[in-house]
Amino acid sequence: MNQIINTLKLPKHIAITMDGNGRWAKEKGKNRLFGHNNGVKAVRDTIEGAVEYGIKYITLFAFSTENWNRPKQEVNALMTLLVSSIHKETKTLLDNDIKLQTIGNISKLPNRCQKELCECIDITKENKSMTLILALSYSGKWEIINAVKNIIDSNITKEEISEEIFKQYLTTKNVPDPELLIRTSGEHRISNFMLWQIAYSELYFTDKMWPDFRREDLKKAIINYQNRERRFGKTNKE
Ligand code: FPP
Repeated sequence: MNQIINTLKLPKHIAITMDGNGRWAKEKGKNRLFGHNNGVKAVRDTIEGAVEYGIKYITLFAFSTENWNRPKQEVNALMTLLVSSIHKETKTLLDNDIKLQTIGNISKLPNRCQKELCECIDITKENKSMTLILALSYSGKWEIINAVKNIIDSNITKEEISEEIFKQYLTTKNVPDPELLIRTSGEHRISNFMLWQIAYSELYFTDKMWPDFRREDLKKAIINYQNRERRFGKTNKE
C-alpha cells in the first residue's frame, strides 16, 4: 500500500544518526571510505526528500566527539569529504532555499573545514524553507557541560535557572526539539546525541545501512511517526 504523508501532522524537526557506512562497505569487500562516500549520496537524497515533504529542520549526526578516536587516516578522510561535499552542495542549498547551521565543538575541526562551513553558513543565512544542521565534533554530554560553563560565566542567579533559560545555552537554542529521531543500521542506541533535546522525541530504528537510506525511507519513518500517539506523560483521555 502506498501511504501518503499527512501534511497537517508533520514533525517540524527530524534528527538522524547516520550509522552503518563502515559495515555497508565491508559487506561489499570495500574500505570504510567507500561507505562514507556513498553515505554522502544518502545525505543528498534525504535532504531533498525532507524539502519535498515540508520538513523545517533536519539535524544530521555527521561526526561525534568520540569519532576523533578513529584512526587518523579515517578522520582525515571524513574531514576532506565534509569540505568537498559542502563546497559542491552550497549551490544546491541556495537553489533549495536551505540554511546551513552547525552544532558541536566546531573550533576542534581543521581550519579548512571551519572556513568552508563558515562560508556556506554565511551564504545561506537568509534562506527560509529548511534549516540543515550538521552535528560536528558533537556530543550531548559535551553540549550540556558547555551550557553549564557558560551559565557560570553569565550573571544568571540560581533562582533564575529554568528549562527555558537552560535551553538558551544549548547549541540548539533557536531550534525546536526534534519530534522524531531516526537511527539507521539496526543499532538501538542514542550514543550521546541531543540528550537534552530528545526528552520526548519518538525514536525510529531501521535496519537499513546509511548508504542505502533514501527519501522513501524518510517518508516511511515520517508515516510511522504520524501513526503514533504522543502523550508527553499525560493519559490519552485528556
Ligand atoms: C557512521 O557510520 C557514519 C559516520 C561516522 C560519518 C557520517 C558521514 C557521512 C555520511 C559523510 C559526510 C557527511 C556530510 C554531512 C556531507 P560508521 O562509520 O560508524 O559505520 P559502522 O558503524 O558500520 O562502522
